[in-house]
Amino acid sequence: MTGSSTRLWGGRFTSPTAADMAAFNDSFRFDERLADFDIRGSMAWSRALAQAGLIDETECNTLLQGLQQIASEFEAEIFGIHVGDEDIHTAVERRLTELVGAVAGKLHTGRSRNDQVATSFRLFCLDSSHQLQQRLRELQRALLAQAHHHIHTLMPGYTHLQRAQPMTFGYWCLAYIEMFDRDYTRLEQAAQHMRVLPLGSGALTGNSLNIDRQALADELGFDAISTNALDAVSDRDFVAELLFVAALTGTHLSRMAEDLILYSSAEFGFVELADAYSTGSSLMPQKKNPDSMELLRGKSGRLMGNLVAILTVLKGLPLAYNKDLQEDKEPLFDSIDTLDLGLHIAAAVVISMQMNPERMAAALEDSMFATDLADVLVRQGMPFREAHHKVGQLVRHALHSQVSLRALPITDYQSIHPGFDETIYALFDAHQSVAQKNSIGGCSPERVNEQIARWEATLAWC
Ligand code: ARG
Repeated sequence: MTGSSTRLWGGRFTSPTAADMAAFNDSFRFDERLADFDIRGSMAWSRALAQAGLIDETECNTLLQGLQQIASEFEAEIFGIHVGDEDIHTAVERRLTELVGAVAGKLHTGRSRNDQVATSFRLFCLDSSHQLQQRLRELQRALLAQAHHHIHTLMPGYTHLQRAQPMTFGYWCLAYIEMFDRDYTRLEQAAQHMRVLPLGSGALTGNSLNIDRQALADELGFDAISTNALDAVSDRDFVAELLFVAALTGTHLSRMAEDLILYSSAEFGFVELADAYSTGSSLMPQKKNPDSMELLRGKSGRLMGNLVAILTVLKGLPLAYNKDLQEDKEPLFDSIDTLDLGLHIAAAVVISMQMNPERMAAALEDSMFATDLADVLVRQGMPFREAHHKVGQLVRHALHSQVSLRALPITDYQSIHPGFDETIYALFDAHQSVAQKNSIGGCSPERVNEQIARWEATLAWC
């Protein structure tokens, strides 16, 4: 049994918390991660209490020194957990009492663990968002380095996983840079909602102690102050938003992983992942498996699961704080850790992989120029639908004759439409086809170079 006296709120209880209940209830083992943020919040709160005349300057300094000492103990990993340390907030207060005595009992004046945890968790989420943004940049830089190398490396672009039109590998890299940039921006947007200070909300209705919340916000780096305490202690939208961005980033990683898994198969042979990021088979000596990418693809599942977990916790929760909200932490920690390492591994795989330009070029085939052939007729004034149909007939004829489009004699072309002449044979040139895709956002080396220059500028300073 855990003695009622060991709990901060033990006063109204006559019998102690059951040991199994304590194990079920206590969150210290995972929310210890909030230590730094919790202590920062408590330091700011101590100053706010002093400013409001609720503690004197000496008491304030005593609290600050004690809190500083506790921060060093966490830093040195020598903070000792005690029976009765329910969560990080109670553990810090218990230790503060040991260090500075009865004055520690004044720290919680006007404060509740409800506004305290909301504040610490917001600070943690802000820090994590920033860290993930750095990881996204790391991956974007790796993709940009590959894009640089492969501006002219031809490969088939696919739709429905069927060969569609020629493009370049550099262009493929830029597509993923775009996706990860939207994730970067989403993290910034999510962070805006995190930068709202809940501290000063008390348990649910605010406080009556004349606390300067603006000074608290300024000290802790929040941009705004919550304007309804009932909402502020209950709100975990910022957790759900961060988990959504993590899930979507995981989805993007999974798509990239799937491309690279396919491209590294013998059937494609476009890429070889570094040995350092592949594994072998215990049975088949010849195997080299793209496990790094398979794990990335697989981990998108738990990132989505964590988002669903928080939405499910929030759904149907009455105002204001309920202990269900303690379930917000493990999914978030898991998503942050999963994504932090996942993004780093993705960057390491991308930077170390070897492309095989010969195999990529060999996968191009004449039918991929069919749209270019249709464009010849379109430029002569034919409606695209009709041109599409005529070239379709040519493709069918080539398939039927078991030759490639390029091998059909000009007479065959002209029997389909007299507008075709010998110049069409020059169309079967992938470099030229790619170069012609010069629209903004197109795959021509000219456009790709512009995009690379733009990304270099963006990624250089952050
Ligand atoms: N460990 C709790 C949590 O993470 C802290 C808040 C507890 N508040 C309360 N009223 N019991 O949610």
